[in-house]
Amino acid sequence: MDISSVLQGGYQHPLSRSWQARRSLTKGMLMYPIFITDDPDAYVDIPTLPGQARWGVNRLEGFIGPLVKKGLKSVILFGVPLNCEKDGSGTPADDPNGPVILAIMKLRSLYPDLYIATDVCLCEYTSHGHCGILHADGTINSEPSAARIAEVALSYAKAGAHCVAPSDMMDGRIKAIKRALIDGGFGNKCTLMSYSAKFASALYGPFRDAAGSAPSFGDRKCYQLPPTAKGLARRAIQRDMAEGADIIMVKPALPYLDIIADAAALAPDHPLACYQVSGEYAMVVAGARAGVYDLRTMAFETTESMIRAGCTLILSYFTPQFLDWLDE
Ligand code: PBG
Ligand code: ZN
Repeated sequence: MDISSVLQGGYQHPLSRSWQARRSLTKGMLMYPIFITDDPDAYVDIPTLPGQARWGVNRLEGFIGPLVKKGLKSVILFGVPLNCEKDGSGTPADDPNGPVILAIMKLRSLYPDLYIATDVCLCEYTSHGHCGILHADGTINSEPSAARIAEVALSYAKAGAHCVAPSDMMDGRIKAIKRALIDGGFGNKCTLMSYSAKFASALYGPFRDAAGSAPSFGDRKCYQLPPTAKGLARRAIQRDMAEGADIIMVKPALPYLDIIADAAALAPDHPLACYQVSGEYAMVVAGARAGVYDLRTMAFETTESMIRAGCTLILSYFTPQFLDWLDE
């Protein structure tokens, strides 16, 4: 055989196999999405999202404490308000006694070293379940949407969030949020992570069950990107960088690895996040339960594909399991 055709000598040992990675998964790269509901004592399993639950604020210590001991570094909070009056502008989103604001304050005081990100969106809080404010004809009214989302983001920053992450996909919201953070005195205290390339995916189903955020009419196609839209994703990433995003995100992750690789090239000087969304997680778990593959092996393979594509940060429902697996 020709000398240059022999590669197997380079990866014959577990250690030399590990050197083939440009970067390896570490605990600090994982951000754990958690659902906070407004019954303070709630612990409710989410059947379509196996192993995940809605938590009340009083349960957070029992839930998060053991994970922090195992090396959990960051969480992203999603509010699930069940006992509130929803309206057209999502008024309960920044209720000072709402679940997200109470959870931010609780987690900050319990775990001073834990990095707290908060998803910012209106869909959990609007009567119509859409992510922005609507015109009378049901179409999106962009400017008041961005203004309202900025107001909510600032209130989370004031409550102590280290990072606000708008997932609504309204035009102009990154600029509006950055402006509100700066004017509110949080320009240097709060990170802005943009769900920049968020696609209208079939993989959000379990999340919408969990968060009770399915739209009451229509769909989200007039604000989330078409799955075919590589060019639009690239433009959204560049726009959000120009509008002041500190972190760029691609979502979902596995069917969009090409977009992650594009984002890594377009935004080489920003941290790059991806979200292995609820349906991706459920798919990996379901395949393992059906005997298609070993769960742990597949969780690593999918996550490592995202790192290989260029991510530096992964929002993952597998985070608690990785905290164990990365110790073994
Ligand atoms: C809502 C939101 C969604 C997710 C995060 N924020 C759902 C949607 O856009 O319909 C999905 C996360 C997941 O599926 O895990 N703005
Ligand atoms: Zn939304």
